[in-house]
Amino acid sequence: MLVPVLLAGGTGTRLWPASRQSRPKQFLPLAGGETSLLSATLERLQTLDDLGDALAIGSEAHRFVIAEQMHGAGHNGRIILEPAPRNTAAAVAAAAFEARARHGDEVELLVLPTDHAVTDQAEFVATIQRARAATGAGRLALFGVTPDRPETGYGYIRAGAPVSEGVRVVDAFVEKPDRATAEQFLAAGDHYWNSGMFMFRAVDYLELLAEHARDIFDGVAAAYEKATTDIDFLRLDKASFEAVRSDSIDYAVMEKTDRAVMAELDAAWSDLGSWSAVARAVGVDARGNSATGDVWLEDADDCVVRSEGRLVAALGTRDQIIIETPDAVLVADRSREQDIKALVKNLDAAG
Ligand code: GDD
Ligand code: MG
Repeated sequence: MLVPVLLAGGTGTRLWPASRQSRPKQFLPLAGGETSLLSATLERLQTLDDLGDALAIGSEAHRFVIAEQMHGAGHNGRIILEPAPRNTAAAVAAAAFEARARHGDEVELLVLPTDHAVTDQAEFVATIQRARAATGAGRLALFGVTPDRPETGYGYIRAGAPVSEGVRVVDAFVEKPDRATAEQFLAAGDHYWNSGMFMFRAVDYLELLAEHARDIFDGVAAAYEKATTDIDFLRLDKASFEAVRSDSIDYAVMEKTDRAVMAELDAAWSDLGSWSAVARAVGVDARGNSATGDVWLEDADDCVVRSEGRLVAALGTRDQIIIETPDAVLVADRSREQDIKALVKNLDAAG
């Protein structure tokens, strides 16, 4: 059985003010249409064989929106609640303990971030099937995307010898390289972006975590043993989980293991990590503008403009991000889109 694990604990502050603490980006229909990113993540899997009920893991504050969106997509699996975010190495470990307890040692996990857009659904499913055929025997699968720019916010996979059709050995994994290294990887042509999705048996991940990050394994094991359950919700023990070291699965396991393979993912994937990424996903016009909602543009170029209610008009603007929501409006230069995270922090601090 293949159990989808939805990572739903992110804060999405780079997409403020659409993405808010009370409703971060994964719960919003940011890729266009009415379907939230989390629901779209589940809907994408519908045609996969041998699929179990999804497990989701996220924050207590979002338990009802997670439950509503999971049930809406036909999944009745457990929702694991983290007393505090401790990043993805720990989140995936908690899901692995739960999946193993429910389904036994052979259960496989498909770990999915909930802030991605994928346009070619058929190819997406076919890639997962190809990867699945190549896992087992203690192997972990990663999903590699051909890079088109020296993005420093991603992990990079150096692909080696072929294993089966569309699947290659991972020779090296480098998480979030600096700019110069990312440029080298792009020029070398043998590197792929890590999409952030993973597939492996729960027991294999737990074994590797115990080998490479014993403290995280032990901490999550304690938090899981002392967890309490209430209907669909599984609450990890607060004191044990809060004591866990915060690290991502990429640094804690993927950079260290030599047991990974990579399936080439050619399905128009994108990570909706910034307003420019959202613009690419919803589409841009001939002048490079991406407009969503009630928007009027005159003599504008390369702008991302989004209205959630009021009419937004822009005149003679270049490279601007303009986001209108009921209680906040953002106007930012596109070159500063990575700084929106810091802006939100400063706003919080200022009360
Ligand atoms: N439950 C839970 N708890 N989820 C979390 C937590 C946590 O503490 N931290 C992050 N997540 C979720 C996020 O919401 C997102 O869906 C996913 O886990 C990945 O976390 P990000 O914080 O978005 O990671 P990243 O974008 O910096 O890097 C990862 O994704 C890139 C591709 O988008 C890495 O896997 C990179 O290697 C990869 O290239
Ligand atoms: Mg991300």
